[in-house]
Amino acid sequence: MLNAGNPRELVLASLPEAALLISAPGRVNLIGEHVDYNMGIVLPAAVDRRVWLAVKPLEAPILRITALDLEESVEINLNNLAARVDRKGKPLPLWSLYPSAVAWIFQSKGYTLSGLEACIASNLPMRAGLSSSAAIEVAFALAFQTLAGIEMERMHLAQLCQTAESSFIGVHCGLMDQFAVSHGVARHALFFDTRSLEWQPIPLPPDTVLVVADSGKKRELAKSAYNQRQQECQLAVQLLNRQNPAIHSLRDVEIDAFKKYEQFLPQPAAKRARHVIEEIERVQRSAIVLAEEDAVTFGQIMFAGHISLRDLYEVSCEELDFLVEMAAGLPGCLGAKLTGAGFGGCTVNLVRKPEAELFCEQMQAAYQSRFSVDLITHICRADRGAYVEKIEKAVH
Ligand code: GLA
Repeated sequence: MLNAGNPRELVLASLPEAALLISAPGRVNLIGEHVDYNMGIVLPAAVDRRVWLAVKPLEAPILRITALDLEESVEINLNNLAARVDRKGKPLPLWSLYPSAVAWIFQSKGYTLSGLEACIASNLPMRAGLSSSAAIEVAFALAFQTLAGIEMERMHLAQLCQTAESSFIGVHCGLMDQFAVSHGVARHALFFDTRSLEWQPIPLPPDTVLVVADSGKKRELAKSAYNQRQQECQLAVQLLNRQNPAIHSLRDVEIDAFKKYEQFLPQPAAKRARHVIEEIERVQRSAIVLAEEDAVTFGQIMFAGHISLRDLYEVSCEELDFLVEMAAGLPGCLGAKLTGAGFGGCTVNLVRKPEAELFCEQMQAAYQSRFSVDLITHICRADRGAYVEKIEKAVH
């Protein structure tokens, strides 16, 4: 449930003694899906749906966190994080595992953390594939970093959060989400090479918006199926490496070489690998057409990305396919695809600004009549990444 009020005001009102106010965005991925754990290149954008965190330091070694949207509070002992229980020994609710994971990774890297009290509120849909977990991770990482006075590059902070998610939560994700949340640039997509860690902002087409359509389908299978896709890619790399020892990741394979080797791969590894190799090429082409302000071709690349996720990577579902097919026939829609891991969650649509409202209404009506479910749409713009505001206390 999202809280109706302004999340920034809510967290400040709930923790008036806060010393820090931190805000972290969600993200959409425009193209480059399931390639970040294959050393590929991705093109996400941070969006103006954000998590807000008010923080106050505590003397005691505890994390006292209230999730205002869920009306839940936890108290976690900083000296007993690995147990994943609250101070009374009760298993922690899922949302609170993310701050725990981040505190745990800081400690395991040798940093000493002191306690804190925090309130969270957000207008970012949770568990919908918009990286609410990465937003919470990065927000808490900034809180710990700032309170403990730790010097750290943004990229390193993103990597720490990624390790926290993989080692503590058990989702062996790539770096895209934590990167996008921590590096977002207003009005730009982020062209990010997950192998070299180089990146550059690319302006989004003028007069377009990013419409997020939330299918409402929760991504229950996401964790196991996601890890399984990774194993299939690893198998493909092992077998390709026998053909050519210079291949250490799917990034090392050009499409022409792949056509030669494909016969040596069993299914489904072969189609997974084909998706990854062609998707990396789609990201490269996207950067070129966006630089030429060719929004129409970019939209076509998004549609092609979705088809590949549906047929080769098999991470789509009936609801997401329906949303993309509907979108393709509506005026003003340039491109549409599922965004993030898939298995439910959201689509992202590149829509001409003047048509955006009507586009949302038509999508909602179609979805309602097909699935009898309310489709929630968000007209978003690309926004800045996570940041910290220090709150100056009034002197009495
Ligand atoms: C999730 C992961 C990312 C990435 C996407 C798929 O969002 O957290 O690292 O793999 O899925 O592109």
